[in-house]
Amino acid sequence: ERSLLGMKELEASEISQLLNRTAYWDNQSEKLTPVLRAHFVANMFFENSTRTRFSFEMAEKRLGVQVLNFTAAASSVEKGESIYDTVRTLESMGIDAGVVRLKPAGVLQQLAEKVSIPLINAGDGNNEHPTQALLDLYTMRKQFGELKGLKVSIIGDIMHSRVARSNLWALTKMGASVQFCAPANMQAPELAAYAPYVSMEEALKADVVMMLRVQLERHSSGIILSAAEYREHFGLTEERAAKLDKGTIIMHPAPVNRNVEIDDAVVESSQSRIFPQMANGVPVRMAVMERALQ
Ligand code: CP
Repeated sequence: ERSLLGMKELEASEISQLLNRTAYWDNQSEKLTPVLRAHFVANMFFENSTRTRFSFEMAEKRLGVQVLNFTAAASSVEKGESIYDTVRTLESMGIDAGVVRLKPAGVLQQLAEKVSIPLINAGDGNNEHPTQALLDLYTMRKQFGELKGLKVSIIGDIMHSRVARSNLWALTKMGASVQFCAPANMQAPELAAYAPYVSMEEALKADVVMMLRVQLERHSSGIILSAAEYREHFGLTEERAAKLDKGTIIMHPAPVNRNVEIDDAVVESSQSRIFPQMANGVPVRMAVMERALQ
């Protein structure tokens, strides 16, 4: 299988292989290794992105891939063309793989069943974001040497988070334990069977404290807590960060709501790995691209 739709479907051995290959690309000093120059890839983003979109493009260009960038707002999607017809159109023109980000969860799976090119999930509603989980796992492995036995707390808007889901599936397969912390209206009850919900005080006792963005755009009903109340109860404030064990690392997939889920000063503190996470996104996506095209 050369598509990458989610971490749920990957074996632990496949995750390890991808992380090993990520380390290979991470350690290459040569910026350009055009081994995939005969391949054409379309980056199809039907939802906004900065990190995922540009790190895929960096990864593809570093491997010499011929990149086509599709943005829904500048396409015939604006005239009512469906996502399926868009992907089929690019497939018929000869692309070898598609990187796809979509708002509605589950549509990617249906698309993958109908097209013959590999599709790579670049964010699928609140379902999965596998390349984010891979870069998160790679960041943790780089810090701690191995994933087995790590305790990872994921704090915030679990309900709307594809990052939380992909990390949960991937980390538990790799022998790490996951716990969640979230206000009642941001919990995902269906995940409680896989990871316990704990208090903020308990969540801060972990090897990794992963903060999530409050996804205002995905909340249909009003947010019960104001930004200030959210910060007070669930934010990684400077005061809370000062109490973390010195070996604990702080992560966040970004974009960050500074001074809501995480204080400004904490984002760039010595325990934060938020910008290294972004850097690691490039070699991860090189490994994923290689797997899709070779
Ligand atoms: N972390 C992440 O997926 O960021 P973007 O939405 O900017 O791609």
